[in-house]
Amino acid sequence: MTFTLTTPLYYVNDRPHIGSVYTTLAVDTLARFKRLRGEKVMFITGCDEHGQKIQRTAELASLEPQQHCDTISDAYAATWAAWGISNDRFIRTTDPRHKLLVAQFFERVQAKGDIVEGRQQGWYCVACEEYKDDAASATAPDCPIHQRPLEWRDELNLFFRLSRYQAEIEALISQADFIRPASRRHEVENFVQGGLKDFSISRINLPWGIPVPGHGEHTFYVWFDALLGYITALLEPDDPADLDVALARGWPAQLHVIGKDILRFHAVYWPAMCMSAGIEPPQAVFGHGFLTREGQKMGKSLGNSLDPMRLLDICGADAVRWYLLRDIQFGDDGDIQQQRLLDLVNNDLANTIGNLLNRTIAMARKWFEGVPNPLQLPDSQHPLALGAAAASAQLDDHYGQLAFQRAAQDVLQLAIAANGYLSERAPWTAIKDPAKQEQVAEDIYAVLETTRLVGVLLAALLPDLSARLLAQLGLPPASDWQGQLHWGQLLPGQPLEEPTPILQRLELEEPL
Ligand code: MSP
Repeated sequence: MTFTLTTPLYYVNDRPHIGSVYTTLAVDTLARFKRLRGEKVMFITGCDEHGQKIQRTAELASLEPQQHCDTISDAYAATWAAWGISNDRFIRTTDPRHKLLVAQFFERVQAKGDIVEGRQQGWYCVACEEYKDDAASATAPDCPIHQRPLEWRDELNLFFRLSRYQAEIEALISQADFIRPASRRHEVENFVQGGLKDFSISRINLPWGIPVPGHGEHTFYVWFDALLGYITALLEPDDPADLDVALARGWPAQLHVIGKDILRFHAVYWPAMCMSAGIEPPQAVFGHGFLTREGQKMGKSLGNSLDPMRLLDICGADAVRWYLLRDIQFGDDGDIQQQRLLDLVNNDLANTIGNLLNRTIAMARKWFEGVPNPLQLPDSQHPLALGAAAASAQLDDHYGQLAFQRAAQDVLQLAIAANGYLSERAPWTAIKDPAKQEQVAEDIYAVLETTRLVGVLLAALLPDLSARLLAQLGLPPASDWQGQLHWGQLLPGQPLEEPTPILQRLELEEPL
C-alpha cells in the first residue's frame, strides 16, 4: 500500500516563505522516515495557481496570469530542489490534466444532486480566498488573519450542498486520529456543530479559473479546484487524464499536513466533496501552528520576512531543519529566534554530535588505527546498546504522531549518553594502563557503534548531516532502518579516515 502524504499546494502570489518551508521540511522528514521503514511513499507538493488573488497579483505585475504562475512555480520547484526536498510529485493546478479531472469530479458531484444555484452575499477575504462573515455590516470588517478590510460580495453562484453531509462529517471528525493534534479537533467540532452551510464553488466574472462544464460564465472557486490537485498529482507522467486512474494510484491520502488556518477546508469541505463524488475521504489531517519571528508576525509589509534562500545559504539545510523541528512542538505555534537557532545548532549538532564523532574517531585512529577489534565485542546488553534500542523503538511512536521534537530529542539524548559514557570511562587515562587495553577497545567500539546509530537515527531529520557522519565511519547513507538499527554492525578492524567537523559552527553578526 502506498503512503500518500501531502503539503498544501502553495499559492503562487509570492515566492516561497518560511511558513511554506516549515511545512515542507516536516513532510519531507516524515516521508524520509517512512521510506527508511520500507514503506512505499507518495510525497506530494505543488502550487495552487488559480483564483482572484493570483489574477490580481499578475495584474499588478503587468503579466499574463500564466506567465506569472510559471515564474513563481519555478521558484517553488527550485527552492525545494535547493533544500533537498524528496517530493515524488510537484503538481501545478494549471496542469491541463488537472483541469479535466476537476471537470470529471464536478460531474460526479452534480450527478449526485449536490450542486444547486444560489446567491452568495458576504464579506470576502481575497488573500484567504474565503468568505469570512455573512453579516451585512455597513463598514468592512478586517480579516482576522490578514488584518485587511474584507470586500463585500453579492453573486449568483453554484453551491455545493455541504449541509447534506452534516452527519457524515460529524462521524468522520469524531474519529480519534482524523484531525490532529487533538487540540485542533475541538475547533473543527465547534464549527461543525454550528451547522454546516452550503458553500459556493463557482465565481462569475473571474476569468482566471477552470471553466465549470455547462455553466459558461462560471469558473470554479479556487479551493474546489485546488483540493483536487492532491488527486491529480497521483497520475503517472503517461497516464490519461482520468479520475479513476489517478485514484487507483494511491488514494486515499493517508495524511494532509497543513497550517491551522486552512484546517476547515481540509477537514470538512474536502472530505464532504469526496463523499459526494463517491471517493474515500483522506485518512488524516494534521494542522500545525504558525511561526512568528522574534515575537512578531512575519510579513513583507512588516519588513521582517525571512528569505528561505538566504537562510539556506547562510545556515544550511541541516541547521534549519534541526532548529525548526527540534525547537517547536509540531502542532503548536513557534517563534523563530536567531540566538536560539545559533545556540541549538552549535550545542546540539556541532558540539554534542560533532564532537562525539570527532573525538571518538580520533581516539580510535590513534590507539587502534581504526575501529577497535576487541576479543569480546560489546553485546546488545551494553548500556549504550540498550539506550540505542530504546531510542529506536520510541522513534516509531514519535514519527507516528509527527512529534519531530521528541524524535530529535531522543537521538540527541543518545549522543549525550555516549559522551557521558566516554567521560565516565575516561579511555584517555585507561589507555595508559597496559592491563586496560581490552577495556578501552571495547569502550571505543561501543561509542563508535552508538555514533553510527545516532547517524542512522538522524537520517530522516537531517539527511545530509547523517550521510556525512556515516561517511566518516566508512558507511553509505542510511537506507533501511529495519536492517541498520541493529547493534553491532560496525566492522572491527576497519580503518578510519581522519575526522572532519560534520558542521561548521554558526556565527552570525547580522540579523538573518
Ligand atoms: N493554496 C492554499 C492551500 C491549498 S491546498 C489544496 C494556501 N496556500 S498558502 O501558500 O497561502 O499557504 C500555505 C501554507 O503555509 C498554509 O498551510 C499556511 O498555514 C502556511 N503558513 C503561512 N504562513 C505561515 C506562518 N507564518 N507559519 C507557519 N505556516 C504558515 O493556503
